[in-house]
Amino acid sequence: MIQLVLITGSSGRLGRAAVAGLQHAGHRVRGFDRVASPDFADTVLGDLGDRTALDRAMKGVDCLIHLAACPDDADFLVELLPANITGLYHVMESARAAGVRRIVLASSGQVNWWQQLRGPAPIKPEDPPSPRYWYAATKMFLESIGRGFSEIHGMSVIIARLGWCPRTLEQVAEIASSPWQQGLYLSPGDAGRFFACCVSARSDLRHAIVYAVSKPLGVVPFDLGSAKTLLGYEPMESWPTGSDPTHRG
Ligand SMILES: NC(=O)c1ccc[n+]([C@@H]2O[C@H](COP(=O)([O-])OP(=O)(O)OC[C@H]3O[C@@H](n4cnc5c(N)ncnc54)[C@H](O)[C@@H]3O)[C@@H](O)[C@H]2O)c1
Repeated sequence: MIQLVLITGSSGRLGRAAVAGLQHAGHRVRGFDRVASPDFADTVLGDLGDRTALDRAMKGVDCLIHLAACPDDADFLVELLPANITGLYHVMESARAAGVRRIVLASSGQVNWWQQLRGPAPIKPEDPPSPRYWYAATKMFLESIGRGFSEIHGMSVIIARLGWCPRTLEQVAEIASSPWQQGLYLSPGDAGRFFACCVSARSDLRHAIVYAVSKPLGVVPFDLGSAKTLLGYEPMESWPTGSDPTHRG
């Protein structure tokens, strides 16, 4: 079924991948970002702190993919708190008021960082979290409120613990230097297919935590079983396909 999907952070690295994947799957896509998305027409320009702009973007939306955030460790008070905590509050409350049925929340493999370093692998969604630092702690907050919205408001909430899709050439070089990091890689193509799977997953799916990475070449860091069983997601690409962030194709 064709759905209207709102993607916050639509101008970002994974946002652009999600837009492409959903358009390819035939969905109607609307973007929300504080930076203009030149690639498509239906976008609302605004900040996560602007509830009026969010409410405008949320109108008629079937599924929300919430990606806009500060995407790594940074000053907590200046960057993480307004975007990842206060911004998340506005997004969730706006989606609830608009009657959005499904929310996909961008979490991170960093919520189980210390197990990544010390094992055992592969990490399963039900393993106890071990967040790396402040950024990962904001993603634990996101996961927690996602569970609450599913239980209290009956919304379908998918927590996506995303692998590493590099935003800079420095990050590409970092991944290239380590087989372990290559196992965390999520290509834009696989990310787009993953988000399309989230949108079309069965409508009675109330709550799920899934890992999303591309096909590991060696070490298998995360258990992709729940992504396959619950969403039908299977990676098709491996490092380094699509890794160049300067390529906008
Ligand atoms: N790329 C990765 O490797 C990775 C891995 C795990 C999780 N994630 C998560 O995926 C999401 C997207 O990450 P990305 O790599 O595409 O980051 P990105 O920085 O490329 O994109 C984020 C987008 O959100 C927008 N944004 C940020 N703060 C905003 C605000 N206050 N109001 C409106 N728009 C705002 C930015 O303008 C940007 O376009 C984030 O939630 C991030 O934590 C990313």
